Amino acid sequence: MEFHAFGFYALALLLATAVLPNLSLAVTTPSSCGAGAAAVGIDSTCTKPYVRKEWRRLTMDERYSYIDAVKCMMAKPGVAPLDAVTNRFEDFLATHIVQAFDSHFVGIFYPYHRFLLSRYEQELWECGWSRGLGQPYWDWTLDVEHDDDLLNSPVFDTETGFGGNGGWIGGNFTHPAPGMIVQSPQDVPDRTGGGCLQNGPFADLSTFLGPHNNTDKKGRNCVRRDMAPASLRNMSGPARVAEAMRLPDYGHWERVTDGATLHPGRALGRRGVVRDHDGPVGVAGGSGVLAASFEFGSGLSDYSYIRWSWQNRDAARIYDISGPLVFFDYANKAAGNVTLESTVWNGLGDYRKETTVERVMHVQRGDLCYTFDELY
Ligand SMILES: *[C@@H]1O[C@H](CO)[C@@H](O)[C@H](O)[C@H]1NC(C)=O
Ligand SMILES: *[C@@H]1O[C@H](CO)[C@@H](O)[C@H](O)[C@H]1NC(C)=O
Ligand SMILES: *[C@@H]1O[C@H](CO)[C@@H](O)[C@H](O)[C@H]1NC(C)=O
Ligand SMILES: *[C@@H]1O[C@H](CO)[C@@H](O)[C@H](O)[C@H]1NC(C)=O
Repeated sequence: MEFHAFGFYALALLLATAVLPNLSLAVTTPSSCGAGAAAVGIDSTCTKPYVRKEWRRLTMDERYSYIDAVKCMMAKPGVAPLDAVTNRFEDFLATHIVQAFDSHFVGIFYPYHRFLLSRYEQELWECGWSRGLGQPYWDWTLDVEHDDDLLNSPVFDTETGFGGNGGWIGGNFTHPAPGMIVQSPQDVPDRTGGGCLQNGPFADLSTFLGPHNNTDKKGRNCVRRDMAPASLRNMSGPARVAEAMRLPDYGHWERVTDGATLHPGRALGRRGVVRDHDGPVGVAGGSGVLAASFEFGSGLSDYSYIRWSWQNRDAARIYDISGPLVFFDYANKAAGNVTLESTVWNGLGDYRKETTVERVMHVQRGDLCYTFDELY
């Protein structure tokens, strides 16, 4: 399989678009491939889980404190052995860029990101973030009823949030503005920004990482944002989340939410067709992908919140795992499925760390010990 200029994600989404319509969202048969409650045997020393709260349920002091912690990470030296990495925060971006093909459109998608985020939280704590709190998440379904809700969300506050939209840049996927690197295969008719962040605590943020999966120290690129409220509502709104909650097993869950609805939709909802960074995920690295922790930490935390909400609804889901070992190998032609014994890893150089899938399946067992202030 060959990957072209506009990047792996574009290809993946094209494939996803081609393949996913065959997957019924209305599956009603119970899971037959779940390891189920029988596998619940992982010891737990978790007696006092820390809490991941929705951004708007943090106090104002907590919001400031969180932003300070992210800036503190950005002021620490990085450890990844890559020229483009200049700080601790970028270690996480770089990890995610380098491991992108191994951690998306594979069964390990959710365990990988869950593990990565728990390590990110440890860095936040080192930087003064309260030990009782985890990475905040964004329940984007609270901000999609009207188009204006998105920009007016407390999450995008210019002082106690992650800043507003990027400046307007014209063009689209087939006719990008001059100098813009096109990455998405989907034109978003309702895009509203696309330029560098104009305000907020991360307005001046830039990075050498990206575009695409570049990790060389070339030019710096700014962090861009491109809100597309209707796309967010259509692809990731309350109806899509409700559908996702009904998916019967992890195999369907991973494929639909990673490839077709929530994951690309959330990303599409706040960026557009033309941008200089990688992956709708925001998380995917690329130049500054983040309005900082918003795109990174919150990106991961949002999925984590959705995922635990789904798992928590049925004991059989908690240890249910499957899905390709190899990028987009949903028919298992190249290799088999991920299992509870599979290794999950992340981190570059000395920061590399491994665990097993089983140890990150339950948020209060094995390597994890947190909860959420609410669940779907
Ligand atoms: C970037 O992606 C290309 C394929 O598009 C791949 O060949 C290359 O190894 C990747 N580089 C890094 C640093 O991951
Ligand atoms: C992209 O922009 C070009 C030039 O304005 C326009 O002709 C084309 O219809 C647009 N494509 C889409 C899908 O909106
Ligand atoms: C969202 O869905 C509505 C209703 O189906 C449709 O009219 C609208 O064009 C869609 N907008 C986008 C941006 O996808
Ligand atoms: C992989 O898991 C799926 C369930 O998600 C199952 O249908 C399929 O048969 C498994 N493939 C192999 C090779 O075991």
